[in-house]
Amino acid sequence: MIFKNKSVYRHPNGGETMELIDEKVIESEVISGRLVTKSGQIFSINNGIPDFTWPIILKKSDLDARISYDSLAEDYDKYNDFFLKTYNENENSLRTHITEKLKITPSSKVLDVGCGGGNSSEHIAKILSKEGELFLQELSPKFLNKAVEKLKNYSVPIEFSLGNACYLPFPNNYFDAAHHFGGLNTFSEIENFLSEITRVVKPGGKVVIGDEGMAPWLRNTTFGKILMNSNPLLKYQPPLEYLPVYAGNVNVEWIIKGAFYLIEFTVLKNEPAANYDLIIPSKRGGSHWSRYYGNLEGVSDEAKSLAIKAQEKSGKSMYEWLNETIKITAKTQLYKE
Ligand SMILES: C[S@@+](CC[C@H](N)C(=O)[O-])C[C@H]1O[C@@H](n2cnc3c(N)ncnc32)[C@H](O)[C@@H]1O
Repeated sequence: MIFKNKSVYRHPNGGETMELIDEKVIESEVISGRLVTKSGQIFSINNGIPDFTWPIILKKSDLDARISYDSLAEDYDKYNDFFLKTYNENENSLRTHITEKLKITPSSKVLDVGCGGGNSSEHIAKILSKEGELFLQELSPKFLNKAVEKLKNYSVPIEFSLGNACYLPFPNNYFDAAHHFGGLNTFSEIENFLSEITRVVKPGGKVVIGDEGMAPWLRNTTFGKILMNSNPLLKYQPPLEYLPVYAGNVNVEWIIKGAFYLIEFTVLKNEPAANYDLIIPSKRGGSHWSRYYGNLEGVSDEAKSLAIKAQEKSGKSMYEWLNETIKITAKTQLYKE
C-alpha cells in the first residue's frame, strides 16, 4: 500500500496544509503516522491509507451509506452480476465507455471518487503509465480494501484514501480528470460534492459522474415502472441544478438502457460571459446590459404614450430617445443656476 504524495493532501474542509508526524516509513512509503494541521486537526494513516473523513461525525445519509456499503462489500460481485444481467449489460463495455469520456493520457493525474471495489479505477489504471497518478477515494473501508487488492499490480502510482466525497482533501486544480459512479444520489451534500470535484480538476480537465436516474420518457413504461419498484434509487434525476458555474460543455447521457444518467463536463476557468454591450437592433434598442441594469421606474399611461410618439418622430430607438431625454433633463436640473 502506498502513501507517497503526502504533500498533496489538504484539510478536506478549507484546504489548510498538513504536516506529517510520527510516521513509519518502509521503502519510502508511509505505512502509518498522522497528518496534522496548524490548527491542530489530526488525520491518521493506517496501513498506508489516510482517513480524511469529514465531518468527523458524518451526516446521516453518509453514515448510512458507509454502514450499508461496508456490509455489502463481501458479496458485491454477486450484486454486480445480478445488476448487469438485469440490464443485459457488459461491464467491460460499460466501464470503457465511461472511462473514454475522461480523455486521459498515460501521464494524467486522475481521481476516482467513491471508487468502491475499484472496477472503474482498474480501467483508468490500464491507461496510465508510471508518469501518471491515480487517486482512489472511498467512504467504506471494506470497499476500499477491495480496491487496494484489485489495483496492487499496476505500474501507475496509486494513492488510496478514506473520506467523504463532499469534502475532498486535494488542492485546487490538481487533477486532469475526475470520476464518480454509483453513489452520488445519496451523498448528503450533492451541491458541495459537485463544487468539490470541480475545484480539484484543472481548467480544461474533465469531470464524469453518474448514478441511477430513470430517463424521464421511460418512467411510465413497463421497464420504468418495474425497475423503479425494485430499486427506488432509480427515481432520482440528474442534479443539473447543482452544477457549478465552472461546468462547461455539459453533456447528459442516459446509459444502461436509460436507467442511469451520466453527466460529463469540462472545467472552465471563469464563469461564462457574453457581449452584454451590443446594441439590440430593434425599435426598443438598448443593450442586454441596459435592459437589465438600466431600469428606473414606470411612468403614467399619458407619459408613456407621449414618449412613444416623440420617439417615433425622432427616428431614434426608444433606448436612445430615453437616454438622451433623461440626460438633458437631469443635467438642466442639476447644473442650472
Ligand atoms: C454503487 S457503489 C459504486 C462503486 C464504484 N464507483 C463503481 O462504479 O463500481 C457506490 C460507492 O459510493 C461510495 N459512497 C457512498 N457515499 C459516499 C460518500 N459520501 N463519499 C465517498 N464515497 C461514497 C460507496 O461506499 C460505494 O462504494
